[in-house]
Amino acid sequence: MEVIRIEGGHPVTGEVTVEGAKNSALKLMAATILAPGVTTLHNVPNISDVHIMGKVLKELGAKVDVVDVHTLRIDTSTVDSWETPYSLVAQMRASTAVLGPLIARFGQAVVAMPGGCNIGARKIDMHILGLQALGVTFDVDHGDIHASAPHGLVGTSVTLEFASVGATENLIMASVHAKGTTVIDNAAREPEIVDLANMLNKMGAHIEGAGTPVIEIRGVGELHPVTHSVVGDRIEAGTFAAIAAIVGNPVTVRGFDPLHLGLVLRKYEQMGIEVERGEREVRISRTDRIKPVDIQTLPFPGFPTDMQAQTMCLLSVAQGTSIVTENVFENRFMFASELQRMGSDITIQGHHAVVRGVERLSGAEVRSPDLRGGAALVMAGLVADGVTTVLDIYHIDRGYERFCEKLRDLGAHVSRVSASFEVLEG
Ligand code: EPZ
Repeated sequence: MEVIRIEGGHPVTGEVTVEGAKNSALKLMAATILAPGVTTLHNVPNISDVHIMGKVLKELGAKVDVVDVHTLRIDTSTVDSWETPYSLVAQMRASTAVLGPLIARFGQAVVAMPGGCNIGARKIDMHILGLQALGVTFDVDHGDIHASAPHGLVGTSVTLEFASVGATENLIMASVHAKGTTVIDNAAREPEIVDLANMLNKMGAHIEGAGTPVIEIRGVGELHPVTHSVVGDRIEAGTFAAIAAIVGNPVTVRGFDPLHLGLVLRKYEQMGIEVERGEREVRISRTDRIKPVDIQTLPFPGFPTDMQAQTMCLLSVAQGTSIVTENVFENRFMFASELQRMGSDITIQGHHAVVRGVERLSGAEVRSPDLRGGAALVMAGLVADGVTTVLDIYHIDRGYERFCEKLRDLGAHVSRVSASFEVLEG
């Protein structure tokens, strides 16, 4: 078992470049099923979730070649199965992103019902309701979802009960060949959805309105493979912005569009953090103590739930009390209970967290509850007194490429050590 060991109190400053967005790359990989042939994806992050999605595509019969660390060549002309095994879906619930493409291409799909995870039940009822409206019938049998549309899909209007990212993406991908036009109302507006629509349109789809609450998909014939570069990861960028903010030294974060972090950066400015925006970068620094602010997570362009833990970490050492409200997932405060072990003063009341700022955090052994909470615990360790050890770091490896190396390049005293605590690297 590996852990991350952080020595607090060292300056963290310099420049860091983020990778392509995990939450786009996984869907772009699934979407290659819609375009038989060789699609090349650039700027793909080298993270475990991408490796799992590669296994899912190979399980379906595709060829997946890693051309270089960040470029994948995916040949889906050989895809001859529409069944994804529970073993892979259980490892990564984002595997359900193949549901829409498989239905569009084969008129059927068998996808294991994804389990919940540490942050919530993660149901897919909205995916199913929307697909049923398009003419897909479903059976759930022994934990597998059997979807079928033997006569193809018929475009219609679907209103999502909640602006679900995954449901929006599956409905877009399922409806690219539907007869007529599909309208998704109350659609999610995340930049990763715009990235998916851009690639599908390059493939020959006809999708309008991505990035707005109403997306229109006009059914077309065959799609053709393309070359596409994954949009920069706004959440990895936001994580490094939060790291710069908590340590206080200037850090330039490159490789993403600051407009994709609009509200986060505006909130950070309200917290007294200096933000200089460039075309594809931000420079973050801080001189005064962090000011408290209230945060509520909402679908984009609201405050992203994937930045909640990192921001709560900042607020835990602010000069005053903040309220953090989590509206997207029902159980995304486990990070707070781990941060308590480091001396924070946080009271959870339902989906609100009352965060009373403390002067200092103290290093401790803590357990990463999920991907973003784990990154936030490492972030806390950078400013805590003494040594912090973060366990269950496989969560972090799912979405952050070379996280420790990037932090060390910024001057942090961070290393990955094995359970026997001999140093593995750096
Ligand atoms: C995507 O998850 C991201 N994952 C999540 O990032 C992100 O937090 C989330 O969108 C919100 O932005 C990927 O893109 C791989 P949702 P997704 O459907 O699609 C409920 C990370 O850290 N819901 O918008 O699963 C659901 O349970 C991860 O990178 C239903 O009830 O998110 C959740 O409470 C974490 N029924 C809420 O809606 C449904 O059919 C939002 O889920 C679908 C969703």
